[in-house]
Amino acid sequence: MDANGTSSKEEDTQEEVYHFMRVFNAFKAYRRTALHALDAREKNFEAILESHKLMLPNHRKIFDDTRLCIDCNAAVIKEIIKSCGDVFENKQYSEIQEHVSHSSFDSDKVEGFKDVTVLVPGCGLGRLAWELAKLGYITQGNEFSFYMLFTSSFIINQTQADGPDDFHQFTIYPWIDKTCNNISWADALKRIKFPDVNPGSLPFTNKFTMTAGDFLEVYTTEDTWDCVATCYFIDTAHNIVTYIERIFSILKPGGFWINLGPLLYHFSGMAKESSIELSYEEVVSVIKQVGFKILKEDWIKGTYTNNCRSMLQYEYNCVLLVATKPMQQT
Ligand SMILES: C[S@@+](CC[C@H](N)C(=O)[O-])C[C@H]1O[C@@H](n2cnc3c(N)ncnc32)[C@H](O)[C@@H]1O
Repeated sequence: MDANGTSSKEEDTQEEVYHFMRVFNAFKAYRRTALHALDAREKNFEAILESHKLMLPNHRKIFDDTRLCIDCNAAVIKEIIKSCGDVFENKQYSEIQEHVSHSSFDSDKVEGFKDVTVLVPGCGLGRLAWELAKLGYITQGNEFSFYMLFTSSFIINQTQADGPDDFHQFTIYPWIDKTCNNISWADALKRIKFPDVNPGSLPFTNKFTMTAGDFLEVYTTEDTWDCVATCYFIDTAHNIVTYIERIFSILKPGGFWINLGPLLYHFSGMAKESSIELSYEEVVSVIKQVGFKILKEDWIKGTYTNNCRSMLQYEYNCVLLVATKPMQQT
């Protein structure tokens, strides 16, 4: 890294390889780490008074059940890393652009949208991007986390989709490590089956792509997109103003920005990270100063990866904002 904090291409590549390996190893370590935490829980339970244990005759079974769930999760993770090692390993992060390959069928309904391009930055597991592609838009999801990229690539490309009913193939237990606020252990041991839709049921195969890399680094070309759709994304910025400026710049004149989400600034409170935290009023002021015209503003209650049976519930007051880049800029 030079005096300006700029890193060379070689350093960037090295950093990407480290990042890749960290994520790969974290996936690989899942079973061991999860069992270790479970063993500690079990040990604590075994250490309490016999008279107390007698009051909880079914509690031991939770440990055995959880062990089986961990094995099931680990089996799915093994599939994910098996398939994604080939896709991502030894490639420079920014070079990865996946074309989603699946069987297709024609649909008259979607023809009208055929030229409309939509970018979904920070697309996570890619569901919104997929849904937009399914509607017939030319959609590109963008994501920089290997955790997300490995998993979305697996779901989109590796889950079998030979027939319309060929989904619900895999089972995971997402909440088995959540030991607090359970009404019943059955809630913590609840299973989820995925995919819940057939990833192969896109009307056109060539309309859905994913790119890997930092949104700010990958998307620099002005006047490119008809629409940018951000969902729980804009608060991931170190400086949200840069995101708003970039979204404006890459939109074609007359293009739309649709945003849903809260302002849970991701770098807030992190000692080594810069974080500019604006109020929603300030964000709106920036949006207008950058040149957008706001067309719609609604407030919608939203949750995120929520176990709806938990005694702890987070609910965001999300803004749904639609803005346009005017045809004529002042
Ligand atoms: C809160 S999640 C939302 C994911 C998805 N949009 C959804 O609604 O489920 C934010 C996502 O943005 C990604 N992200 C954060 N900063 C990014 C950046 N600069 N470039 C690309 N992706 C980014 C994160 O890795 C994460 O997957």
